[in-house]
Amino acid sequence: MHQLIFKQRKLMALSAFIATIIPVFIGLKSGACRPNTYITTGFGNNQFGTKTAYFWTYPESEHVKNKLMKITMDGRTCNAVHVNLVSRHGARYTSVRDMRSFTALQQKLKHNFTNQTYDFINNWVNRYPEEKETLISALGEREMAYLGTHFGTELHDLLNGTVSTDGTPTSVQFAATRKTRTQESAKYFFRGLTDVLLGQNLTSVKPSIRDNILRFFDNCKRYEQETADLSEQAKFESGPIFQKVVTDITERLGTNVSLTVGDVKMIYRLCATELAIRNNADWCSLLTDADRDVLEYDNDIKDCITRWYEHKITGQMSCPFGKDIFTSMDKAIAGNDQGSSYTKGMFQFGHSDTITDLAAGFGLFNDWDSLRADNYYAMQNRKCRASILDPFSTHFAFVLYNCGGAGIDSYALKLFFNGKSISIPKCNSEACWYKDVRLGYKQFIDGCDLDSICAVQHTPDIIG
Ligand SMILES: *[C@@H]1O[C@H](CO)[C@@H](O)[C@H](O)[C@H]1NC(C)=O
Ligand SMILES: *[C@@H]1O[C@H](CO)[C@@H](O)[C@H](O)[C@H]1NC(C)=O
Ligand SMILES: *[C@@H]1O[C@H](CO)[C@@H](O)[C@H](O)[C@H]1NC(C)=O
Ligand SMILES: *[C@@H]1O[C@H](CO)[C@@H](O)[C@H](O)[C@H]1NC(C)=O
Ligand SMILES: *[C@@H]1O[C@H](CO)[C@@H](O)[C@H](O)[C@H]1NC(C)=O
Repeated sequence: MHQLIFKQRKLMALSAFIATIIPVFIGLKSGACRPNTYITTGFGNNQFGTKTAYFWTYPESEHVKNKLMKITMDGRTCNAVHVNLVSRHGARYTSVRDMRSFTALQQKLKHNFTNQTYDFINNWVNRYPEEKETLISALGEREMAYLGTHFGTELHDLLNGTVSTDGTPTSVQFAATRKTRTQESAKYFFRGLTDVLLGQNLTSVKPSIRDNILRFFDNCKRYEQETADLSEQAKFESGPIFQKVVTDITERLGTNVSLTVGDVKMIYRLCATELAIRNNADWCSLLTDADRDVLEYDNDIKDCITRWYEHKITGQMSCPFGKDIFTSMDKAIAGNDQGSSYTKGMFQFGHSDTITDLAAGFGLFNDWDSLRADNYYAMQNRKCRASILDPFSTHFAFVLYNCGGAGIDSYALKLFFNGKSISIPKCNSEACWYKDVRLGYKQFIDGCDLDSICAVQHTPDIIG
């Protein structure tokens, strides 16, 4: 799957380049006063790590159409009876700390470089209101509304009638975390969903707050301990590949100030932020595609340690969430079999870690080697690449199907990742019998004990 996306990405990059360069130049001519707006195509190779906006990697046109509601399994026709969606929140504003670092970076560079190509730096104004800290942006709202529309359309037969005309969810549920950005994501998803189901754009939904399920990574001591060592990232940053990027940018600018690793990482972040929130690629013009590839790798080293496979604990500790998803599906099967009312759609909005840790728990996107300072080239086709696996609004949709008849044997499961069906590791197929998947993950689901998973194992005393 990854290879395919990677090829598509190259094609997209070209059209994205043409699509962005025009508005950017028009923008420059029309002066500094640009409205807050966004583009859905991105810029260059779109390798912006976890700051990649959803549509830059996954354009609307590439989402499966007419494939969600009905499938065929071993010659039987199966209809969707339940969907469980788990999503990262939509594109957002940065933290206040980053907003202030943007200003500090500009102050450092202002009038201290010679290359007139970059004169925009002297006039750049930080337009990020601190009160918007980490809230979702207009593009994030659009991402979420799109997902609501997508699932409302593709699963219309399942979801029609699940929200009453006054906007009360009857047989769908919404959940988020204590963070506003996840609750806002639920609202904009609801807006897209009700546009399709009711012909009204409603944002009145009140998601239940489920930090115990969606923020399972809080307070896990062993996780904190095991993922604390980021020395490979530090080694990469002081090594020749990253340092060449620092030197190249410094030379390109013709600057009298010496850029630090932190400055270069901040340019990368500012570039992605300006692009997503203000449709401005000026800062991105300081970086080549090759620079962004290095910067993304740097970020991926850390993410692969803290969010993917470097430590088994990352996947293991997501088991309360995995268990919750299977419990919902078990209940849907019981409800459907008995002809009683049950939750047809469960829509949950969390964070990057919520989604990546769960994916690791299910054994998805496993790489053949770890990311280190010494294997940047060898890992070019790695799976652990945040712009593909972890952009804003990244989501999994578990769709449960009834293939006629009752009992667990009559149910099938498909897993959709960012608009496409993917193979479920424990059955190695894109369409599986539910009971096979449930059995495959039995230990993960039924053996889930977060306290013992997170307990710090103390090394036995050495007795002389
Ligand atoms: C860079 O530094 C040199 C020597 O201090 C100085 O002559 C020159 O004006 C400086 N250039 C800029 C753009 O600040
Ligand atoms: C959706 O449900 C409403 C009533 O809840 C019904 O009037 C309408 O015909 C349904 N639409 C479709 C396409 O089934
Ligand atoms: C809901 O909002 C979308 C996006 O702004 C718009 O295209 C659509 O027509 C609206 N739907 C209704 C029912 O107003
Ligand atoms: C100024 O920047 C442009 C764009 O990166 C580059 O092509 C050019 O070589 C730079 N000029 C100098 C003198 O480095
Ligand atoms: C950069 O330029 C500012 C004035 O714009 C000046 O105050 C500052 O000292 C310069 N920094 C360096 C390191 O040259």
